[in-house]
Amino acid sequence: MNIAIVGSGYVGLVTGACFADVGHHVICVDNDQQKIAALQSGRIPIYEPGLQEVVHRNVSSHRLRFTRNIKDGVDNSEIIFIAVPTPPQADGSVDLTYIEQVAREVSEVLTEYRVIADKSTVPVKTGEKVADTIRRYNKIGADFDVVSSPEFLREGSAEAATTAPVARTGRICR
Ligand SMILES: NC(=O)c1ccc[n+]([C@@H]2O[C@H](COP(=O)([O-])OP(=O)(O)OC[C@H]3O[C@@H](n4cnc5c(N)ncnc54)[C@H](O)[C@@H]3O)[C@@H](O)[C@H]2O)c1
Repeated sequence: MNIAIVGSGYVGLVTGACFADVGHHVICVDNDQQKIAALQSGRIPIYEPGLQEVVHRNVSSHRLRFTRNIKDGVDNSEIIFIAVPTPPQADGSVDLTYIEQVAREVSEVLTEYRVIADKSTVPVKTGEKVADTIRRYNKIGADFDVVSSPEFLREGSAEAATTAPVARTGRICR
């Protein structure tokens, strides 16, 4: 499959690299210019055992690349994962600003059917909010579905946590 991951931080980078490693073509998008420049030049901004090797292997195989351009990601993928921050607020609720921003950016460049998969940690019904935002800002009424794909990786063993389900079932990411 062709996959875009919006947000190339801990979750997005690990997920994207692991998807690429099982054969998908992955575009990791981020709006942090320095992060994308580092990734494009082969520098990995976080340390995770095994991650650097997975990233380098898949960049070399042309299955993994990095961009700031969300249109590039949306145009060239069938499924778009959202993996941006969802920090807690002072009142204990979750700040969905980053998610809403991505939903709006996706909606502005969405021209044909895509699946939008939320990987960020969010409260129930966030999918409905994301769908509402996309519907509101997409001028051509493009078709889409929003699904939830919650992330459970642990920092320090993120690559293993992401690939272990593939190893166990042999089909989750294929
Ligand atoms: N890190 C973990 O161990 C972990 C585990 C499970 C779930 N989560 C959840 O996953 C989500 C992501 O967490 P993380 O640790 O990867 O965060 P992170 O801060 O490491 O990465 C988020 C990335 O999103 C980028 N970003 C923000 N807004 C953007 C936009 N509009 N367009 C493109 N990129 C944008 C940032 O520049 C950053 O690189 C959060 O909801 C978090 O709660 C994290």
